[in-house]
Amino acid sequence: MTAKDRQPANTGMVCDYLCRMFSLTGRKAVVTGGGGVLGTDMACAMARAGADVILWDVREEALKASVERIRKETGRTEGVDYRQVDLMDEEQMFAAIDAAGDFQILLNACGGGRGKGPLIEQDMETFRFVMKLNVEAGCFLPMKVVGKRWIEKKVPGCIINIASMSSFVPLSGVWPYDAAKAAVKNLTEGAAKEFAPYGIRVNAIAPGFFLGEQNRRLLTNEDGSLTERGKAVVAHTPFGRFGQAQELMGAVLYLCSNEAAGFVTGITVPVDGGYLVHNI
Ligand SMILES: NC(=O)c1ccc[n+]([C@@H]2O[C@H](COP(=O)([O-])OP(=O)(O)OC[C@H]3O[C@@H](n4cnc5c(N)ncnc54)[C@H](O)[C@@H]3O)[C@@H](O)[C@H]2O)c1
Repeated sequence: MTAKDRQPANTGMVCDYLCRMFSLTGRKAVVTGGGGVLGTDMACAMARAGADVILWDVREEALKASVERIRKETGRTEGVDYRQVDLMDEEQMFAAIDAAGDFQILLNACGGGRGKGPLIEQDMETFRFVMKLNVEAGCFLPMKVVGKRWIEKKVPGCIINIASMSSFVPLSGVWPYDAAKAAVKNLTEGAAKEFAPYGIRVNAIAPGFFLGEQNRRLLTNEDGSLTERGKAVVAHTPFGRFGQAQELMGAVLYLCSNEAAGFVTGITVPVDGGYLVHNI
């Protein structure tokens, strides 16, 4: 029997099955760094799958643009909101968590690097800033506060952190970013174990290289051509290109799904065009 002769699958049945597996209807997600390139697309994917989403970011104009885009793409007027919040400021973060009401998904996409250079020339103020942005504001503190709340309220929530290739292997010259993203993977694993008895799952996604606001200047010139660093990244990526944000959405929806990933916790999923398996 050829593929052509086979009975076509019942589309309605397929859709029902996939919908049950991946629908986020009835759930609400907070997306930190929601005004950024990856955060916006991830929030949009969750909204398209039926979740209500609240985007947090320090940049209000970016938030407004992201919310407008998500509303347009999903055709939704309700359940897509934002709050301007500086996550480096604990009080602001606590107030945002209180104001968010009940939510069951926390996606920590706030983060990024600053500059690049030799270890012996690393500016320590920048080092501390990047560590604080990615480890405290972008991962640990939201997990701590939201985790406490979910444990008290018996919410079997889902946390997704954003790690990096540098969680696995250091990227040259970005010292605090390397240290911070290695910590994000480590904290994801530790929190997964501690929260598992409460039914809270903690996982991470490690994107390869995607053009975001925080790395655009490192990877591309003003005219859009690649910097030396950008060329090195593409040369090291077996797919020979940067990723497109949409290529992260399957991992987001999989990890959010209690049906598809209900027994999955503590993993860091690379979505990297083969970056981590590059060889010669
Ligand atoms: N783009 C990539 O290739 C890539 C690869 C691996 C990991 N990541 C990680 O993914 C996440 C998102 O990156 P992106 O590429 O979309 O970058 P981005 O710069 O487009 O988004 C990051 C967002 O975080 C926000 N932010 C920064 N400081 C904040 C603060 N104090 N309070 C609240 N919000 C703040 C920024 O305003 C920005 O909108 C980051 O953690 C980044 O390190 C990105």
